[in-house]
Amino acid sequence: MTGSYLIGDEMTGGYGGADILHGVTIAVDKGEIAVIVGPNGAGKSTAMKAMFGMLPLRAGQVRLGGRDITALTPQERVREGMAFVPQTNNVFASMTVEENLEMGAFIRDDDFSATMEQVFELFPVLREKRRQPAGELSGGQRQQVAVGRALMTRPSVLMLDEPTAGVSPIVMDELFDRIIEIARAGIAVLMVEQNARQALNIADRGYVLVQGRNRYTGTGAELLADPEVRRSFLGG
Ligand SMILES: Nc1ncnc2c1ncn2[C@@H]1O[C@H](COP(=O)(O)OP(=O)(O)OP(=O)(O)O)[C@@H](O)[C@H]1O
Ligand SMILES: [Mg+2]
Repeated sequence: MTGSYLIGDEMTGGYGGADILHGVTIAVDKGEIAVIVGPNGAGKSTAMKAMFGMLPLRAGQVRLGGRDITALTPQERVREGMAFVPQTNNVFASMTVEENLEMGAFIRDDDFSATMEQVFELFPVLREKRRQPAGELSGGQRQQVAVGRALMTRPSVLMLDEPTAGVSPIVMDELFDRIIEIARAGIAVLMVEQNARQALNIADRGYVLVQGRNRYTGTGAELLADPEVRRSFLGG
């Protein structure tokens, strides 16, 4: 794990008051899906923000490709290949789908039309709706816009905080299939999910966080098979 492409290693910190994270370690490799699950308030989003540089760490490190990036700002991390889709407010509702995707390409000064084409191939409904304000789309379609926007920088790491929040089971399955496709293309995918069972099913690695600490770590299959994890976090 110390050799993983992206590692949040023993992260400790919070929002200025008491620490929220207590030595949390999360790692993911290119081509893999790592999933963070755990109860509300466990620190899942905080761990994601810490890895993206939105939270100062009091102890621990974030490393990308073997390099210590703990001191980099989120903007600098984007330039290093990281993309983050936050849990809320992840699209510009009054802007069209196409404008949202263009915004995603903000750090690029080359021609990004081929990348937009790839996003439309991955999410065909976005091509159909490209002239519509993102706020008029369904919840699942808005999540596609958010993921598509993140892909516009051609990241090597894609971080998603609850990408299936508020969508139907069918839409969730479809979104997970697209996320698998993204990982197969060689991107490291790190996501937080409240649909723990389904997410661990597609996870190469799983992390159960509780009260700001790593409680269980294993492959998705190991966690799904663990009786304690099942009883406490997967509803039996
Ligand atoms: N901006 C903030 N300022 C201060 N405290 C915060 C902030 N955001 C979250 N917290 C606190 O940090 C703790 C962890 O919250 P976090 O959002 O990381 O949990 P989570 O596991 O993502 O929960 P959920 O499943 O509800 O999304 C909670 O106690 C929360 O109140
Ligand atoms: Mg959260």
